[in-house]
Amino acid sequence: MNFLELATKRISVRGYHSTPVDEAALAQVLEAARVAPSAANRQPWHILVIRDKAARLALGQAYTRDWFQQAPLILAVCVEPAKAWQRLDGKNFADVDGAILMDHLTLCAADLGLGTCWVVAFEAARVKAALHLPEGIEPLALTPLGYPADAGRPKTRKALAEILHHDQW
Ligand SMILES: Cc1cc2nc3c(=O)[nH]c(=O)nc-3n(C[C@H](O)[C@H](O)[C@H](O)COP(=O)(O)O)c2cc1C
Repeated sequence: MNFLELATKRISVRGYHSTPVDEAALAQVLEAARVAPSAANRQPWHILVIRDKAARLALGQAYTRDWFQQAPLILAVCVEPAKAWQRLDGKNFADVDGAILMDHLTLCAADLGLGTCWVVAFEAARVKAALHLPEGIEPLALTPLGYPADAGRPKTRKALAEILHHDQW
């Protein structure tokens, strides 16, 4: 599978088998995340691998879709804005950096036949409490990680002509 095929194959999976995730596959997914680029190489991020049933249940209170807890693992990508690069105008790139890491992670998972789904529509305070996040660490995104039991929705995207500009807007 070449990169374009992989990028097209990755979809948001909202149904999972409870089959344990192969440990070697998990290690690859985490390595793909680790090598992601970040502004000024600050790497202002942390990844939590949540296996514990009680912790997953607590996260389920923060995001209440039933498919969210079906997978054996939930990954939480957290950022530390104080460690991220900031532009002169004050824009902080922690979220951008974390999103790139998350993209590496989801694409690698898809390559290995594992499903993921970006989840950000959670109650952040509940996530922080469930994961005992220290001050200054923000939960950016969660994703289940597991074997897909759902074919996903058809991929709908704007046509290139709608988003592409040449030379000027
Ligand atoms: C930043 C971001 C946040 C998202 N948050 C959620 C979410 O909270 N819940 C959810 O079900 N899907 C969420 N998604 C998944 C998107 O709905 C999905 O990526 C989009 O509809 C395109 O579908 P695809 O991922 O299958 O290609 C999120 C995706 C991104 C990139």
